[in-house]
Amino acid sequence: MAAASANGQEVPNKRVILKSYVTGFPRRTTWRWSPAPCASPCCAEMNRLTVVKNLYVSCDPYMRGRMTKHDKPSYVPDIVVGEVIASGHPDFKVGDLVWGMTGWEEYTFVPKPESFLKINHPELPLSYYTYGCSCAGSDEKVNLLKSKFGFDEAFNYKKEQDLDAALRRYFLEGIDIYFENVGGHTLVVVLSNMRNHGRIPTRGMISQYNLEEPEGVHNLFEIIGKGLRMEGFMVFDYYGHYHKFEQENGRVPQGGKDYLHRGHR
Ligand SMILES: NC(=O)c1ccc[n+]([C@@H]2O[C@H](COP(=O)([O-])OP(=O)(O)OC[C@H]3O[C@@H](n4cnc5c(N)ncnc54)[C@H](OP(=O)(O)O)[C@@H]3O)[C@@H](O)[C@H]2O)c1
Repeated sequence: MAAASANGQEVPNKRVILKSYVTGFPRRTTWRWSPAPCASPCCAEMNRLTVVKNLYVSCDPYMRGRMTKHDKPSYVPDIVVGEVIASGHPDFKVGDLVWGMTGWEEYTFVPKPESFLKINHPELPLSYYTYGCSCAGSDEKVNLLKSKFGFDEAFNYKKEQDLDAALRRYFLEGIDIYFENVGGHTLVVVLSNMRNHGRIPTRGMISQYNLEEPEGVHNLFEIIGKGLRMEGFMVFDYYGHYHKFEQENGRVPQGGKDYLHRGHR
């Protein structure tokens, strides 16, 4: 199979697909390469569709739930950031950066370009709070969090023997807002470090996805005692707000920490 390149030539196209359902941790053998459909630039131009070269393909924890065998099929496409290389749609031109839902593939043919969102401000700062601290599981990622993604502090959670001590070190007066992605023991320790009336927007619980038996959280009373607000959400519910988000954040003074680079993979 082949896809259109910027100069009108066709290039091979392929995607990664799920080979078998997963119990426990996924393995390299969970997936396999597969040929992907193709379209030529003139086909794109005639039919108001676009061809996107995918620069970033998300490989993330929320995909784990979709790898488990459920009674009903649970597959939904993945998120990519790409560059338009051919377009017949008036709102999308060659060179535009876009993001949307598709497969784990090198090129995507978008029959309804409106389903992809144009990135008008690739230079948006990720964080403009007065103080932000994050964590990841390698020193390389920790350095990226601080040097590129705008966090004031970051730590390697795998190197911290005592998470409570780490949180006390980075949040001297406690935590106002915790963006919950981890769950389990991390949530237990965070709850005891939250400040009164803190907020916990709850997006995911990665530490639980590969466990046969999920861990319990034994100190939920902290939510009552401290008047915390914990609220879950799905990103799909907020797609309609993307351009408003871009416009609002585009007005924030730039700190020189751009995080989307063309050509990086
Ligand atoms: N609600 C929604 O609509 C929605 C949409 C997308 C994602 N999510 C959820 O959001 C969360 C983050 O997703 P993402 O796309 O941002 O993932 P990501 O970029 O892959 O980051 C995941 C982070 O979690 C860390 N991590 C992995 N296992 C951990 C563990 N056992 N304990 C502590 N930290 C651990 C990873 O550390 P390493 O450096 O060690 O890998 C990494 O820093 C996930 O829970 C996902 O399910 C929800």
